[in-house]
Amino acid sequence: MPRMTVNERPLEFDMDPDTPLLWALRDAANLTGTKFGCGNGDCGSCMVMVDGAALRSCLITIAEAEGRFITTIEGLSRDRSHPVQQALVAEQAIQCGFCTPGIAMAAAALLKRNAAPSEAEIEAAIPNLCRCGVYPRLVKAIERAGRVTRRRETISAAPAPGISAADAAKAVPALRATGAASTNTSDE
Ligand code: FES
Ligand code: FES
Repeated sequence: MPRMTVNERPLEFDMDPDTPLLWALRDAANLTGTKFGCGNGDCGSCMVMVDGAALRSCLITIAEAEGRFITTIEGLSRDRSHPVQQALVAEQAIQCGFCTPGIAMAAAALLKRNAAPSEAEIEAAIPNLCRCGVYPRLVKAIERAGRVTRRRETISAAPAPGISAADAAKAVPALRATGAASTNTSDE
């Protein structure tokens, strides 16, 4: 049963060790921010950080992730305050948003090792596919996120929507916990 640390939480997966990390994150850990696109390593929508480096989680098994530190989009920040998240919103580099978590993780890993990447370095580090074609805005957003990371600029981002457990339970009834349910049913 492979053990690893996911978003600073120790987890042990009672699953076949050959299970792709992507399935374990989405289906067992309920971290559905990491997206399944192609399952073949082509699209980048499943990108997470493994020991700080961007990796496609469809290409790594949980056995290979044993003992490693995994960060998913849910762990990048608790309130969407990471410079990459702020800049993607500020530059309107999101359309349907399906590719966005993978792009954000690849960009965050890039800025960790190089906070002032050139356009060519951004394009090389973020090979993610986007069916909506946000590429030109993406480069501007990552350059801007780099400036925020280097404290050359701040972004006044819109406040994140409520993501408290009660709000989540209200939106997804299946997540209701005992106690939260009575609170939420009163205003329906
Ligand atoms: S789902 Fe992993 S690269 Fe496409
Ligand atoms: S924003 Fe739609 S796939 Fe990229």
